Amino acid sequence: MERVLAGIRPTGKLHWGNFFGALQNWVKLQNEYECFFFVADWHSLTSEYANTSKINQWTLEVLKDVFAAGVSPEKATIFIQSQIPEHAELHLLLSMITPLGWLERVPTYKEMKQELTDKDLNTYGFLGYPVLQSADILLYNAKKVPVGEDQVAHLELTRELVRRFHSLTGKNIFVEPQPLLTPTPRVPGLDRRKMSKSFGNAIWLDDQPKEIQAKAMLTLTDPARTHRNIPGNPDVCTVYDFHKLVSDQKTLQWSNEGCRNAGIGCVECKKAMAEKAIDFFKEFREKKDHWNKHEKQLLAAVAEGNKRAHQVASKMMEKVKGALGIKWN
Ligand code: TRP
Ligand code: SF4
Repeated sequence: MERVLAGIRPTGKLHWGNFFGALQNWVKLQNEYECFFFVADWHSLTSEYANTSKINQWTLEVLKDVFAAGVSPEKATIFIQSQIPEHAELHLLLSMITPLGWLERVPTYKEMKQELTDKDLNTYGFLGYPVLQSADILLYNAKKVPVGEDQVAHLELTRELVRRFHSLTGKNIFVEPQPLLTPTPRVPGLDRRKMSKSFGNAIWLDDQPKEIQAKAMLTLTDPARTHRNIPGNPDVCTVYDFHKLVSDQKTLQWSNEGCRNAGIGCVECKKAMAEKAIDFFKEFREKKDHWNKHEKQLLAAVAEGNKRAHQVASKMMEKVKGALGIKWN
């Protein structure tokens, strides 16, 4: 089986964007590949270094969401980045061969620095974010990495590092990873901007039925449809975008046609979407409840995952040190 590796940064509990953009895909991939999934808590430190008090709590929350979404420790190796020190060790060694220019021209680097103006991101660690990500991937010889569009440049840098390492050492020890693009495009938030924790426009995976209903009512519709008797265009409506994620074909058609011929009203349409969403995430809410009550069990499963990851990572580090000629035993 080919190996897949994916990481998720701990930002607190996860929302629909994280589910449809990543987790749903992980659940599928675990049946088709040998999967390594991890919480990238060190990556969070690259921007959250001034306030680290929540990172462990958020890591646990993300793990509960990963488990509740159906990613299973029996099928995949689930671990925490900071528990595998080899990630730091390889990051250091890769940093030695990484030209500054390669990092400075990564698009996410420039964008994040411009967007997150409340944080000082003029740090060594933040610039090195893709080097750490490369270490994550190369330690496990992952052939495929499921990512969104924005991460493709990071993988490109990883492949360039592989080639540079091989040509500098004369030893071919790494696999060049390829992106596995997530099928779901970006998920909008209630206000139509990208769904994001920091925009206050998210629907959380464990939102209760009442909260889902309330958020459905707040979701933006076709702005031109100002009256019940004016036909609308579902293609510019966020409620309809949500329908596409959670509703069956029949409901989709009902909403699409009813909107275009003014056969239904927006309130009706939102209520139907909320019902489907409540249904869609019912099992998730039940499982999350379960993991909230069985934290110890979850942590034990993750400890097993850490152990398995560590075995793979430490073997790889031996090869890396061998290639560099700095192995002592
Ligand atoms: N940078 C990724 C993100 O923001 C998270 C991540 C860290 C990752 N290390 C990784 C993803 C390794 C894939 C492989 O989504
Ligand atoms: Fe959107 Fe539904 Fe209203 Fe059409 S009827 S604008 S799809 S909420």
